[in-house]
Amino acid sequence: MASPCLELSNKMKMPVLGLGTWQAPPGKVEEVVKFAIDAGYRLFDCAYLYRNENEIGNAIQQKIKEGAVKRQDLFIVTKLWNTFHERSLVKEACKKSLAALKLDYLDLYLIHFPMGYKAGEELSPVDDKGMIIPSDTDFLDTWEAMEELVDAGLVKAIGISNFNHEQIERILNKPGLKYKPVNNQIECHPYLTQEKLIKYCQSKGIAVTAYSPLGSPNRPWAKPGEPMLLEDPKIKEIAARHNKTPAQVLIRFLIQRNVIVIPKSDKPQRVEENMKVFDFELSKKEMDVILSFNRNWRAVPVLQAVNHKDYPFKADY
Ligand SMILES: NC(=O)c1ccc[n+]([C@@H]2O[C@H](COP(=O)([O-])OP(=O)(O)OC[C@H]3O[C@@H](n4cnc5c(N)ncnc54)[C@H](OP(=O)(O)O)[C@@H]3O)[C@@H](O)[C@H]2O)c1
Repeated sequence: MASPCLELSNKMKMPVLGLGTWQAPPGKVEEVVKFAIDAGYRLFDCAYLYRNENEIGNAIQQKIKEGAVKRQDLFIVTKLWNTFHERSLVKEACKKSLAALKLDYLDLYLIHFPMGYKAGEELSPVDDKGMIIPSDTDFLDTWEAMEELVDAGLVKAIGISNFNHEQIERILNKPGLKYKPVNNQIECHPYLTQEKLIKYCQSKGIAVTAYSPLGSPNRPWAKPGEPMLLEDPKIKEIAARHNKTPAQVLIRFLIQRNVIVIPKSDKPQRVEENMKVFDFELSKKEMDVILSFNRNWRAVPVLQAVNHKDYPFKADY
């Protein structure tokens, strides 16, 4: 079954469920994207940072050639990495992603983080203390360069990721703003429910996409003793009540909040499992119980950038 869609402020329709591709290894991702297209996925969440756009592009191209899907039925998202925040670098960065993905336009291009890093080959340039070397770009300038991509026909829509409420407000209040962000992609799951930020975004017509919806169990910096969402006995209990898996409950929880969700798996069986979330409903009581699990815990805190002027996670929301 294909995923239902949510209408964005520019009237584009974005599937509410897509496939995440962070840490999907180049050797596996091509097969899994092809499998996902056959299983009904239309939204793919990519990023320059993930270093697998090329293989994802191969899969998309093959499926279009086969006639399994049409380009206009896919919704391809990718992201401007932090080392390309300078105005003069934005278009080239976008073109690099387009070339790797073998597309002539993106459906949605996001600023990956509000924090710009020093430009150059190094994706995460650090000083001798291991802290990120920032660029002094203002993300409002980056935003203007993003707007130019829409006018140049390279992207259909633009948005942001990991922006907090104050940073979004700065964009919305920018004099001469041409295009509002249509989407903010943020971490969200039962241990980080993001109620204030989601309410704020939705009140401004900015759709929200939840990343790490399963708690990102394979994040490289995971430490023993950290919370394991998929193992949470209370989530397991709710899943058993519905004859569903914990992953399906975690995905459904976000969809019922009108949030787009992009779980990652490079295993066909799980890709299929994660799509089977449109045949059950969590009750209002179950939704409230799951919301009460919030503990403001982040799987992706980006700690080496904590001193950055635009570090977004110090703010309350
Ligand atoms: N904008 C940002 O800054 C940002 C940050 C992080 C992530 N993202 C995006 O969001 C996507 C999802 O987040 P994420 O990758 O951090 O974490 P996630 O989707 O919460 O979790 C993915 C992990 O869960 C496992 N998994 C998937 N389905 C499962 C299932 N049904 N049962 C048990 N385990 C399952 C996967 O393992 P297998 O692959 O082995 O199945 C993978 O290790 C990313 O891939 C990326 O596209 C964006």
